Amino acid sequence: MGRVAGKVAIVTGAASGMGKADAQLLAKEGALVVLADFNDEEGEAVAREIGGEAIYLHLDVTCEDNWTSVIAQTMETFGRLDILINNAGLMTLGSVVDTDLAAYRKINSVNNEGVFLGCKHAIPAMTQSGGGSIINMSSVAAMLGMSFFAAYSASKGAVRALTKSVAMHCKEQGNGIRCNSIHPDGVKTPMVAKVATGKDAVTDAEVEKLGELGSLCEPMDVANMVLFLASDESSFVTGAEMLIDNASTITPPIIGPN
Ligand SMILES: NC(=O)c1ccc[n+]([C@@H]2O[C@H](COP(=O)([O-])OP(=O)(O)OC[C@H]3O[C@@H](n4cnc5c(N)ncnc54)[C@H](O)[C@@H]3O)[C@@H](O)[C@H]2O)c1
Repeated sequence: MGRVAGKVAIVTGAASGMGKADAQLLAKEGALVVLADFNDEEGEAVAREIGGEAIYLHLDVTCEDNWTSVIAQTMETFGRLDILINNAGLMTLGSVVDTDLAAYRKINSVNNEGVFLGCKHAIPAMTQSGGGSIINMSSVAAMLGMSFFAAYSASKGAVRALTKSVAMHCKEQGNGIRCNSIHPDGVKTPMVAKVATGKDAVTDAEVEKLGELGSLCEPMDVANMVLFLASDESSFVTGAEMLIDNASTITPPIIGPN
């Protein structure tokens, strides 16, 4: 028996990076996984690789009609929804002065509004299923002052706050749904390799090369936290912000050794 055996999970942004690792680990631990992304070719390939009962569904997280359709198809196929990983995201570099309004809105529409839509449409299906776990992918950018990530930081800060609002709503409703956010620092994924190389598409070798920086964790390090929050092992954890940052958010004290 796996740690999430028999549970039904939707993972957004499952075609790449952390979403792919989340889907692989949840399936390995017994979940029936719906991989959702707008990169259909890669998403379908990952679902085929996982095999078993994993399915791929097209989802642009900014499109409300796509969300209603993915939730409905999940309920039709598997009869329940227990886990939602709101993982899909975009990253761009730019200070507040360098970022134009269109870019600011685009990042916030995916990273912030996409998570809002996911929570909004998953909650009724999870309530019908007797409860569940929503896991929202934020970032250390929600905690730190990163001048080069104006739009990205704002979008991840919104996810951090929305998560607590959702957690309180579900607690007040007594619907058995928990909601937590995860805050990684750098993770070895295509997203970071694209920013590092300035390219729109990167090879596996370019992602691997990020390892030379020495400060990034692996997607599976994040997936292990996702698995814990998705499982009943975390049944008393809700409204929490889980850092995976090798202490990067701890400011060194002014007074201390050296
Ligand atoms: N990589 C890092 O260092 C890091 C650190 C902290 C947080 N995060 C967050 O983790 C999440 C996953 O990032 P990753 O590094 O695995 O990135 P990635 O680029 O490897 O994967 C992102 C996935 O999201 C999908 N996606 C993008 N926009 C979408 C949309 N509108 N609808 C549906 N799917 C969409 C992409 O197709 C892709 O498959 C993101 O929310 C990111 O902001 C990443």
